[in-house]
Amino acid sequence: MILKRLAILGLLLSLTWCSAHTVKPNEQAIASAHLAATQAGIGILNKGGNAFDAAVAVSAVLAVVEPFSSGLGGGGFWLLHESKGNRQIMVDGREVAPLAAHRDMYLDTAGEVINKASVDGALAAGIPGLPAALAHLSEHYGRLPLSVTLQSAIRLAEEGFLVNEHYQRLARFRQAALLNGEAARAIFLVDGNVPALGTLIKQKDLALTLKLLAGNGFDGFYKGEVAKRLVEGVRASGGIWTQQDLASYTVKERHPVVIDYNGMKITTAALPSSGGLVLSLALNILEQYDLQTMDEESRIHLIVEAMRRAYRERALHMGDSDFFNVPAEVLTEKSYAKQLAHNLDLKKATVSQKVSGLNNAEGHDTTHFSIIDRDGNRVAATLSVNYPFGSGFVPAGTGVLLNDEMDDFSIKPGVPNVYGLVGGEANAIEPKKRMLSSMSPTFMETDTMVGILGTPGGSRIISMVLLGILDAQAGNGSASWVSLPRYHHQYLPDTIEYEEGAFSKAVLLGLTGKGHSLKRKEQRYGNMQVILWNKVANKITAASDPRGEGIAVVEKVANR
Ligand code: GLY
Repeated sequence: MILKRLAILGLLLSLTWCSAHTVKPNEQAIASAHLAATQAGIGILNKGGNAFDAAVAVSAVLAVVEPFSSGLGGGGFWLLHESKGNRQIMVDGREVAPLAAHRDMYLDTAGEVINKASVDGALAAGIPGLPAALAHLSEHYGRLPLSVTLQSAIRLAEEGFLVNEHYQRLARFRQAALLNGEAARAIFLVDGNVPALGTLIKQKDLALTLKLLAGNGFDGFYKGEVAKRLVEGVRASGGIWTQQDLASYTVKERHPVVIDYNGMKITTAALPSSGGLVLSLALNILEQYDLQTMDEESRIHLIVEAMRRAYRERALHMGDSDFFNVPAEVLTEKSYAKQLAHNLDLKKATVSQKVSGLNNAEGHDTTHFSIIDRDGNRVAATLSVNYPFGSGFVPAGTGVLLNDEMDDFSIKPGVPNVYGLVGGEANAIEPKKRMLSSMSPTFMETDTMVGILGTPGGSRIISMVLLGILDAQAGNGSASWVSLPRYHHQYLPDTIEYEEGAFSKAVLLGLTGKGHSLKRKEQRYGNMQVILWNKVANKITAASDPRGEGIAVVEKVANR
């Protein structure tokens, strides 16, 4: 009798669980950094494509219209939620170091870092992963062929897109790098100058490369004519790529990092992104306190102290786990976060050099988009060429602007990269290794809501996502996550960076009194794109960061 009752209870529980996971949204939504990308993705959803097809279309359009952020010459992470089977996967299309790369390749004979060698030009580029990831997404998760999902990108590359102020600002910032090579100069500048507002940027070679990718998938980019031109162009300009580098590139599927923060399930990026582990460390520290009942100054102080400790672990222990034994299990333990918090003083800033942890074994660009489809499939994707306009180098005849992600390796222990991040052995350069990233596409989930979020912003990506998660926990909606003023601490430099409006005068004084050093950023940062599905009301809201020019669209699903 008891067994029978238990069996019935089990059945009821599993039915409840199933229905919780099979509820479908009444709407579909996309938030991305560019109108054309959001439109292309919505177009694919309305053609019968799923969220993964839409992700291919959005990624490809962003590659065309935001050359300063991401592209075929770059890489990224696509965090997927497959509604059927309630499965989460991270598709890792991160760049890898070329086979001829070695740990001291950016140092001179005196062991000093060669200025800009890992930032500008062909030697700065890792082997791209984005085209392979698009082919992988399409083949394993999509419903539509690449010939359909890449159509909008091909058209925009052929017909051109209009230069806006954002383009101008970033082209001015990277003008010197773009001037170095003929192809990049011809595509992205006009007579060597930053193009006027409204100039049409056409990318005929890129359109041809996209067509080959659409027609031949992986081989269209990594083998044959495009690969030949890429390698010839790179080598003629001092780079070290080979055909073998391209032909042997592999996309990896990773188990995302899953964090339980006060009952909210957070699914986020695994290594080679440091995002998931750093978020886990920070949230596990914060969970030991009751943030909601704290005054504002104490709460900010505490969040900064959590960031400081979590970013320290990044600097010391994180790198590509296929190459380095990262103690990920220890880093994600709640008890480890307790140890990290042992010297956390609620009244006083800890000096970064005095933070202890495991014994030491020794934007400004990128882009993010979020998608949910009518079946509840989701994508959070953060893509990058690293610095604005990547390396500034385009191999002739390809239209492919190459990344400068090699700078995300630790070029020399203790020497900061362009984002001021330091690293060590775990993130040293090795052939075929993936450089450590901060990109953190993230899902949040409770019984009543699903959130999808992420942002560009180099090392600040993780702290922005952390603030977004805390804001969601506090019960605020999607518009608040993208617009709230931001602050950041990354262990070194030992300074809180903050946006105008992030702190009141009293809080500023209080934080200074606690011993923090503070620096106001001249410009606001980040470009967060988010979706919030309220499962109780079955209502979706989406929001695009007011700092950028992105567009979030929520559409009623037809025929339901
Ligand atoms: N290139 C930025 C990042 O991957 O963190």
